[in-house]
Amino acid sequence: MLKINNINVFYENIHAIRSLSLEVHEGEIVSLIGANGAGKTTTLNAISGLIKVKNGEIKFLDKNIENRPPEGILKLGIAHVPEGRKIFSKMTVLENLEIGAYTNKNSKKIEEIYEMFPRLQERKNQIAGTLSGGEQQMLAIGRALMSEPKFLMLDEPTMGLSPKFVNQVFEVIKNLSKSGVTIFLIEQNVNIALSCSNRAYVIENGKIVLSGNSSELISSDEIKKSYLGM
Ligand SMILES: Nc1ncnc2c1ncn2[C@@H]1O[C@H](COP(=O)(O)OP(=O)(O)O)[C@@H](O)[C@H]1O
Ligand SMILES: [Mg+2]
Repeated sequence: MLKINNINVFYENIHAIRSLSLEVHEGEIVSLIGANGAGKTTTLNAISGLIKVKNGEIKFLDKNIENRPPEGILKLGIAHVPEGRKIFSKMTVLENLEIGAYTNKNSKKIEEIYEMFPRLQERKNQIAGTLSGGEQQMLAIGRALMSEPKFLMLDEPTMGLSPKFVNQVFEVIKNLSKSGVTIFLIEQNVNIALSCSNRAYVIENGKIVLSGNSSELISSDEIKKSYLGM
């Protein structure tokens, strides 16, 4: 579904992504694992058109999408829940959801989001900045789903959440996957990432250094030593 071939991304003279290739097949949950500063967010931003790639290809459903404008990429069915949520904190819950729907005029979608997150319905007129961290993450996911994506990318969705909300976020991810949405997940908690994905890639200094089935990676010595402190 998504195929990245040898992309390079620079921030002026910083070579942030180095000849990176990866692919995500339809129906999979794939995670991208790596330390702070490894290049995870930059990879997602390149896919969603928020940052330019210097060279290489990004294909989605056999179309080249590298360096297209973000609205065009969203319209093809790719949605992005950004790092740090980036909800509009002075707007209400409902207004945040409506913004997510600007490419999609299906008014029934909002009812589906409320079914998935009853908390958001209860709080639809509340100013989003006054929600708890977990509720804000639910809102960020709900907003991304308003465009009815085929492919959903989440950048550290459990960052700063209590264990109860971490579990809730992963329940939501699993249910979305069951309903047919393909998932590309960034997660710093390697245990969590590997236990909820089919496959994973490990990124270090902008390069993919390891990849495979999550069930195999979780028992690999390299992962245990570098990421699980075992
Ligand atoms: N806006 C920016 N300007 C300059 N350098 C950046 C910028 N954003 C990220 N970087 C650098 O690019 C590298 C990858 O960052 P990032 O993709 O945010 O990593 P991660 O999400 O894995 O923590 C890091 O070295 C970071 O310092
Ligand atoms: Mg990041």
